[in-house]
Amino acid sequence: MKGIIFNLLEDYIASNHGEEAYERLLARCNLKTGEPLLMVAPGTYPDEDFHEIVRQAAAAGHLPVDDFYRDFGRFAIPRMADRYPDFFAPFHHPKDFLKFTGMVHLVEVKKLYKDAQVPDFTCRDTGPDTLLLRYTSERMLCRLVEGLIEGVAEYYNVPIRCRQTRCQRRGDMTCEFSIHFAEGSGRESADGQRSR
Ligand code: HEM
Repeated sequence: MKGIIFNLLEDYIASNHGEEAYERLLARCNLKTGEPLLMVAPGTYPDEDFHEIVRQAAAAGHLPVDDFYRDFGRFAIPRMADRYPDFFAPFHHPKDFLKFTGMVHLVEVKKLYKDAQVPDFTCRDTGPDTLLLRYTSERMLCRLVEGLIEGVAEYYNVPIRCRQTRCQRRGDMTCEFSIHFAEGSGRESADGQRSR
């Protein structure tokens, strides 16, 4: 997993419990990486280390791991928008941004980090206020995806209902999310732009 994801995880844990608590937590983790405090955005670190930090942090906060991932996803989106503003600026509605998620990873993330092992996203536009989003990855981080979808909706200030209809962890080939955006939230304004 790329260092940028570890950096976001550090920000999340430190913003809830403080930087010192994060460092104490790292000291308790059984990590493969030799120099965990030097994790840098373009570097690549073992997925097991990511899971270990999440496991320890969730336990310390008395949260189920799935809830931790979801909350982390919601936290991460505004930070990603600060870091990659150009990816968010062209869009005014979460549906349009989410339709771009596959391209972000396959094209933009790959341009930034050639060795990234990106997840696969495909979308089916099922109606004016609905979207089916499919996520496929060996990492099977669907609770994180759910939190990220919610974070995107909050970022563009559009209420959603999101239901997971397929899950790789239950043996399906892909994870599928059926997303319903607040009615009329996607109405286009006179200049063809969606209103936020
Ligand atoms: C501007 C927006 C985004 C950027 C720049 C971005 C970038 C990245 C990067 C760099 C990674 C690490 C890949 C690796 O470690 O090899 C990653 C992983 C991931 N991204 Fe994004 N991402 C964005 C938006 C999203 C959104 C909206 C979702 C979900 C709807 C999402 C879901 C994930 C997941 C679940 C992973 C973990 C890796 C996996 O499951 O295989 N990302 N992303």
